Amino acid sequence: MFRIVSKFASGGGSTEITWTRRTVFLQADMKRKATASPRWRWKFGGFLLMGTLLTLFMLVHLQTLFGPDASDGANTVPVVTSFEGQQFSLNRTKSKLAFMFLTGHNMALDILWNQFFEEVEEHEYSVYIHARPGYSFSKGNTICRSFINRQLNNSILVEWGEATMIRAERLLLTEALQDPLNQRFFLLSDSCIPLYNFTHIYNYVMSSQKSFVDSFVDKNDDQYNILMEPVISEDKWRKGSQWVALTRKHAEVIAGDSTVFPSFVDHCKKINLSDNWKGDPMNNETIGRHNCIPDEHYIQTLLAIKGLEGEIERRTLTFSRWENSAKDQGQNGWHPVTFKFADATVQTIKEIQAITNVRYEIESRTEWCSAGGHRRHCFLFARKFTRAAAFRLIDQVDQYKSSDPDLAE
Ligand SMILES: *[C@@H]1O[C@H](CO)[C@@H](O)[C@H](O)[C@H]1NC(C)=O
Ligand SMILES: *[C@@H]1O[C@H](CO)[C@@H](O)[C@H](O)[C@H]1NC(C)=O
Ligand SMILES: *[C@@H]1O[C@H](CO)[C@@H](O)[C@H](O)[C@H]1NC(C)=O
Ligand SMILES: *[C@@H]1O[C@H](CO)[C@@H](O)[C@H](O)[C@H]1NC(C)=O
Ligand SMILES: *[C@@H]1O[C@H](CO)[C@@H](O)[C@H](O)[C@H]1NC(C)=O
Repeated sequence: MFRIVSKFASGGGSTEITWTRRTVFLQADMKRKATASPRWRWKFGGFLLMGTLLTLFMLVHLQTLFGPDASDGANTVPVVTSFEGQQFSLNRTKSKLAFMFLTGHNMALDILWNQFFEEVEEHEYSVYIHARPGYSFSKGNTICRSFINRQLNNSILVEWGEATMIRAERLLLTEALQDPLNQRFFLLSDSCIPLYNFTHIYNYVMSSQKSFVDSFVDKNDDQYNILMEPVISEDKWRKGSQWVALTRKHAEVIAGDSTVFPSFVDHCKKINLSDNWKGDPMNNETIGRHNCIPDEHYIQTLLAIKGLEGEIERRTLTFSRWENSAKDQGQNGWHPVTFKFADATVQTIKEIQAITNVRYEIESRTEWCSAGGHRRHCFLFARKFTRAAAFRLIDQVDQYKSSDPDLAE
């Protein structure tokens, strides 16, 4: 989980994102999730007051956060859409992609994934699903054959914002590493859709020796806890999306980590506010420092500590759009956009496919997306989509799945 605000730059094929304090959006997000997916047992009552106060603050503060346009880099290197002639292992008998899903129980978008995997040979990919303990996938509850019996048998109950989330990610990686043919490891949410066909996704990630991990230094972030010293020093503290694509080497580092993870369990916790809490959220160091959301820091920080940042593309392959929508009364504005039936158009997908750079306002950095040394379009997956949206997209998949994003306008 992470918080960004993004918007399409008009015609420029870019996305601008602004990171802000997670706490600000907690209440809105929890409310939305609570209605959309009751599996997440979040307690959000205590955040009502805080959310209101912080949102008022944010409405003012945001004016300063939106900086200059992302596309002012005068970057004219062409985006490459073909993988022909590139030197990387195209022997799909030897290298598999591992698709690792985090879900509560059902896989709402199974119709799209079924279509996606249908055209792939079984030896080219593996699927792992972390669902709530005891839940198993069968013909009775999913139409996607690739999901059947792919649930982890040692899954745990995941609480949003708790270390259980990163524990579940590690369980998925540990399981996926059992298959020596798995070479790239995608962490995906149950509201995620693929933007391209398998071949394109395969070539994209295999053309690079790097992992794709959204990672940056947020100077406004106060989630670092000094008690993590000396295991985690503050200069190694990173933030970013939990939706990563990892090389086997990095998957092994994360699954085998026995020092940084325990430190997160002990010292990175979200705060529980009592309903009677009347403090000022902006002026209380104690609360700020101890409100920590493990999954938006763990993988990034671990890779930094291990000195592996030279081996990552510092961005996520999974698109999410964050929006402040005044029409969502009672949700205090900020929330990740859920693409519903009405939004599920080829045009929407093509706009996402066409994005070529991401602006990190907090670091004054524009990330021009590349893989294997070639400029590429940024995203292979997108979230969050509803089941109804998936049913609408399934009829239009042919119009965007194998499309050349350069032609999409
Ligand atoms: C791919 O690898 C498999 C297993 O090692 C091997 O049998 C096959 O001949 C290879 N195919 C190509 C085209 O290199
Ligand atoms: C979990 O156990 C079931 C039944 O033994 C098995 O079919 C399934 O493959 C297991 N899941 C994984 C991810 O190995
Ligand atoms: C917050 O509450 C949950 C259960 O509601 C508990 O497991 C967790 O330890 C609490 N966190 C802190 C920091 O007190
Ligand atoms: C911060 O909040 C905690 C818990 O509500 C309280 O005990 C502490 O006194 C507060 N500190 C300041 C500086 O307001
Ligand atoms: C997959 O998409 C690529 C373009 O990204 C296209 O060239 C190719 O023909 C597609 N493959 C299939 C099997 O549809």
